[in-house]
Amino acid sequence: MYPDDLRALVEAELERLRFAAAANTAGLEEAMRYSLLAGGKRVRPVLALATARALGAEPERFLPVACAIELIHTYSLIHDDLPAMDDDDLRRGKPTSHVKFGEDVAILAGDGLFAEAVRLFATQPGPAERVLAALRELAAATGVDGMVGGQYVDVVGSEHDAAGLRALHALKTGRLIAASVNVVLILEGTTEPETMPYRRFADELGVLFQIIDDILDVTESDERLGKPHGSDERHGKLTYVSLFGLERARELAAESHRKATVALSQASGETGDLRRVADYIFTRHS
Ligand code: IPE
Ligand code: IPE
Ligand code: MG
Ligand code: MG
Ligand code: MG
Repeated sequence: MYPDDLRALVEAELERLRFAAAANTAGLEEAMRYSLLAGGKRVRPVLALATARALGAEPERFLPVACAIELIHTYSLIHDDLPAMDDDDLRRGKPTSHVKFGEDVAILAGDGLFAEAVRLFATQPGPAERVLAALRELAAATGVDGMVGGQYVDVVGSEHDAAGLRALHALKTGRLIAASVNVVLILEGTTEPETMPYRRFADELGVLFQIIDDILDVTESDERLGKPHGSDERHGKLTYVSLFGLERARELAAESHRKATVALSQASGETGDLRRVADYIFTRHS
């Protein structure tokens, strides 16, 4: 069901990436590659490549931006797991970066992945003004009005109702997932109204992703998740399960999945792989 050919392209490209130019930073590169190559689902880069396919473009051409997004995502996971954040010791089925390398190196591995992501993004072929606009989109989705801002809202615990929770999920997880689709729309020069259904799809998919993540935190085992289950409850986090209960959270996930697929059905192009990613996100157990 999941587009495994696209995932394989991403995996091979990530494996090829090297960061250290000198022997004295080889250990930092080792820590960066340890988390990067530990076997994530690669949902964000696969979404980027599936968007390229939907627009009739060669997915391979978008590997630099797709992998740049995965580098940013991996940095966010390393920092999310730190003792000062979620204090988790398992990630992608392995000890977290700070457990393996120490907090100092883990922080730097995250910082390094972020900077190397920008460098990689800048190698994306295409008209310079489009590459720049796409980079602006990714930086905005990662920054204060995006993932990092969402992580801030999460840690200060300032939201308490349904609207606030949806806004939190849209920021901390939704914006980066949506950017995975949007940067390819920008690079391809796709314009309104053609972009509209894709954007609606991507926004809803991002929120759906985090609703499911909240549910799996309660229903799955550490082994299946590759990360510690029950992390949200341990930290008293506001989640779809803590606010609505498991049953209602599942209904809201189904509603969100339906909205995403309805939006996608209005998009022109070969949207089969995007639909398969949406179905995978909705039905996954890890
Ligand atoms: C986990 O992301 C963090 C969230 C934003 C919910 P993923 O579930 O995509 O983690 P990996 O990349 O597969 O490890
Ligand atoms: C984190 O959300 C989202 C990020 C931006 C990393 P979670 O804290 O729920 O992610 P997991 O469950 O640890 O992967
Ligand atoms: Mg967290
Ligand atoms: Mg966490
Ligand atoms: Mg979670």
